[in-house]
Amino acid sequence: MGSDGFLPFITAERRLEGKVALITGAAQGIGEAIAIMYSQHGAKVVIADIQDDKGSKVCKRIGLDIASFIHCDVSIEDDVKNAVDHAVEKFGKLDIMFNNAAIEGSPCPRIEDSEISHFQKVLAINVMGVFLGIKHAARVMIPRKQGCILMSGSVSSVVGGFGLHAYTASKSAIIGLMKNTAAELGQFGIRVNCISSFLIASPLATDFFTNKGVKGVEDWTCQLATLKGAVLTGEDFAKAAVFFGSDDSKFVSGHNFMIDGGVTTTNVAFDLFNYS
Ligand SMILES: NC(=O)c1ccc[n+]([C@@H]2O[C@H](COP(=O)([O-])OP(=O)(O)OC[C@H]3O[C@@H](n4cnc5c(N)ncnc54)[C@H](O)[C@@H]3O)[C@@H](O)[C@H]2O)c1
Repeated sequence: MGSDGFLPFITAERRLEGKVALITGAAQGIGEAIAIMYSQHGAKVVIADIQDDKGSKVCKRIGLDIASFIHCDVSIEDDVKNAVDHAVEKFGKLDIMFNNAAIEGSPCPRIEDSEISHFQKVLAINVMGVFLGIKHAARVMIPRKQGCILMSGSVSSVVGGFGLHAYTASKSAIIGLMKNTAAELGQFGIRVNCISSFLIASPLATDFFTNKGVKGVEDWTCQLATLKGAVLTGEDFAKAAVFFGSDDSKFVSGHNFMIDGGVTTTNVAFDLFNYS
């Protein structure tokens, strides 16, 4: 205990030392950033994705002694089951299950023109994929009476008009699933949380805003955020993922954590604080 009565600040550079994490959709974008940062913090990582070449390259970059790729379509239960079992067989256990894979879906924004097949496809990956990830992670975490389950959310889980209908519905749905499974799994020492962010210039976002490119997406995010002077990147998401995956958040469960520069908490149209 320090002289001021507070515990001394402990610098823990490798905050995930000894942990094993499975990250879906980590062949590129935010998932890749999480996988790299997790490994830098001492975790062994399994990358589960449908893009075999890209996923394998990320593993090589991290190091094949501490990273492993497995082909996994999160909408297929056997694939998710295999990915979880692969993590346990390869690295001995599963501490962190990060349900990150998702798609934006059809570029059609109008409800009357939206196809049910597109809607179903988005929900199959973005919602059922998360459901399957939680289900199979819980299967191996419950006997160990510990574990951390995370998922990638979005500002569209709390504010309308930020995503297409299916995407918005999917990101809202996983928040309910997150809270419900946190309520059930807490008794086994398993924490369940969601990390939601505003637009990050990943392939998903730059593909969606086809004409904007990386710089355009970043400019747009900066323009809409009430917080100025910072640019949101995948690294910011990964840093939050380290906190939620580590024991630093040991008493945190059932949260939808926003990395959004204030965009979901402010009605800018009211224009109360304009200094210009
Ligand atoms: N980029 C953003 O602006 C943003 C903002 C908020 C939330 N998110 C969320 O973050 C997560 C990652 O997004 P991103 O921007 O890195 O996207 P991305 O498209 O760059 O990467 C998504 C990854 O998921 C994989 N994937 C897609 N379908 C899959 C399936 N059926 N099974 C397994 N893997 C599959 C892709 O191959 C890809 O590697 C998503 O959940 C997304 O909704 C992104």
